[in-house]
Formats: sequence, C-alpha cells, structure tokens
Amino acid sequence: MSSFDQVVNLISDDLSAVESILTENTASEYSFVDMAVQHVVEGGGKRLRPILVLLSARTCGYVGSDAHTLAAVVELIHVASLVHDDVLDEAAIRRGRETLQTKWGNKVAVLVGDYLHARVLSMLVSRKSDDPAMEILADTTQAMCEGEVIHAYKSGDFDISEEEYLKIISFKTGKLIAASCILGAHLGTNNMERIDAITQYGQQIGTAFQIVDDLLDFVEAPEKLGKNAYGDLREGKLTFPIIYTRKVCDDGEKQMLEKVLNADSDESQAINYVESLFEKYDVETHCLRIAQGYADRANAALTILPQSAARKALENLANYVVSRES
Ligand code: IPE
Ligand code: IPE
Ligand code: MG
Ligand code: MG
Ligand code: MG
Repeated sequence: MSSFDQVVNLISDDLSAVESILTENTASEYSFVDMAVQHVVEGGGKRLRPILVLLSARTCGYVGSDAHTLAAVVELIHVASLVHDDVLDEAAIRRGRETLQTKWGNKVAVLVGDYLHARVLSMLVSRKSDDPAMEILADTTQAMCEGEVIHAYKSGDFDISEEEYLKIISFKTGKLIAASCILGAHLGTNNMERIDAITQYGQQIGTAFQIVDDLLDFVEAPEKLGKNAYGDLREGKLTFPIIYTRKVCDDGEKQMLEKVLNADSDESQAINYVESLFEKYDVETHCLRIAQGYADRANAALTILPQSAARKALENLANYVVSRES
C-alpha cells in the first residue's frame, strides 16, 4: 500500500463522513445546477485539504465531528478555486473529466464556482463570530484570490523573479493548505507553540505542493494527472521549473525560451525546446530537491508535537506531496 493510501486508511471513517457532508451541502433542487455542481464535487480529487484538517485536529488531540464540517468547507473552497482557475487557465480536463466550461461554457463555470462559495457561507453561518475558523477562512479566501489576481496580472512577465513567484504560490495555493492545518489544530488546542508548529508545517508543504504541481505539468502522464499535460506551457505561464531554467541557461537559450513561450509560437516546438533544456539542466531533479527541502522543514516543525499515529501520517503526507504522481 502506498504511503498516501495508508494515510487515507487511518482516517477512512472520517473521510466518509466528509463525503456525506459534501454531498448533502452541495445538493440543489434545480437538476441542472445539481448536475453541474456534482460534476466537480464528486470523485477524482485527492481530498488533500480535508485530510490535513482531520490529521491536524487529531495530532492536536481533537476527536469530534466539527473537523468533518471544516474539512468539507475547505474542500468546497478548493473546488470553487479549481473551477474558476480552469476558466482562467482555459483548461479542458480536471479530475479526469471535462471542465465545466468545456461542457457548458464559461458562464456556467463561473456561476458554479460562486454557488460553491455561497454553500460555504451557509455552512459557516451558524458558527459563533469569535470562532477562529471564521477569520482564518475569510483571510484565506481573500489571499487565494489575491494570489490568483497577481498571477494573472504577471502571467506574461518573462522576468518574474523566483522570489515573487514563491510569494504568489504561497498565496494562491499555500494559504488554503496552511489554513486546513490551522483549522484542525485550533479544534484540538489553544497552545500557541503547537498551533505555530502546525502553521509552519502547512505553509511549507503548501509551497512544496505547488512546485511539484508545476513540475508534473511537464513530466507526468495526463491520465495520471487527471488534467491535460503542458497546460502551463500552452498558456505561456511562467512556473517554477521555467523560472529556474531561465535563471541557469545561457543568453541565447534564454532568448529562445522567451520566444517559444510566446503565445503565437508552435506548440510542439515549444515542448521539444523546453524538454531539451530541462534535460540539459536537470530541472526535474532541482525542482524535486527544492520541494523536498520544504517538506523536510515542514516535518522539522512537527517535532515539538507529541508522537502519534496522526503526526506520523502528517510526516508521510509531506513526503508524499513531493513524490506524488498526481
Ligand atoms: C490542484 O490541487 C490545484 C493546485 C493548487 C495545484 P490538487 O492537486 O489538490 O487537486 P485535486 O483536489 O486532487 O483535484
Ligand atoms: C492552481 O494553480 C491554484 C489554485 C488555487 C486553484 P494551477 O493553475 O497550477 O492548478 P492546476 O494545475 O490547474 O490544478
Ligand atoms: Mg492557474
Ligand atoms: Mg490551472
Ligand atoms: Mg498547475
């Protein structure tokens, strides 16, 4: 059994409870709305963020059903962001299925994303206003949007620095992953040292997660990914592997790289050229090494927490974020 399957096994009952909450809380009485929403909510996803809520809660000593609700909430925020992201990125496939806009057009996709945010609000409305989950989720959703807006604004900027890019991914991807951990931790403890440790862990694996996502876009088979390969390249998007390549290649290669990333250039020529540079500069190994550095720092942060099966599962999950193939 893979380390990810072992993690899932440990919390399989909790994950089933989360699935039920997801289904119950996204149902619409209008059959078309229901079909479009279920198309993206059900199946296919890794449920990484719910898993993080559940494991962080357990690691901090929490047992109870509020973790299921918060796990479902973070998954819905995530799915909403995927639906909108696929419109921005003009992606055709998600979770092994056609994206909403491929099937029904951009209007349906944008509105289903909004619908999911509305469902999140409704799931949170009965919570007390001083519940830390409220502020965490409000800040996180805002930061994710800010990250995506800045990324969209910067998308054609060939000179974006690695530092700027890491900041963007910590917002668009890292914040929700970190928030999933923090929400779980708050359920179990008020101890700031422990909450800080879990926060550190979440931030670090969030960055590792997006670096690996960027790499998989180039190196993994689409059937495994459940999304089309070379999506970022096709969009001319500068992501972590390209930003690194741009930094280490020579001037002539850099000019050629900029040229092939241009929207009007031939796609297969671009793919071949980028792949040749990746091989020459061993870009895959570099990206994995950087991502592993984040995963190692994530796990180092956990050492102040008491040893437990849940903590061990978080450690395995950090390594899985780097070694995953989908
Ligand atoms: C994809 O997230 C979007 C990113 C933040 C890179 P996941 O890879 O977790 O997507 P699912 O939930 O498994 O479909
Ligand atoms: C996703 O980044 C960021 C989100 C917060 C949705 P990507 O655009 O790289 O995600 P994928 O590759 O489409 O899943
Ligand atoms: Mg995107
Ligand atoms: Mg995308
Ligand atoms: Mg991606």
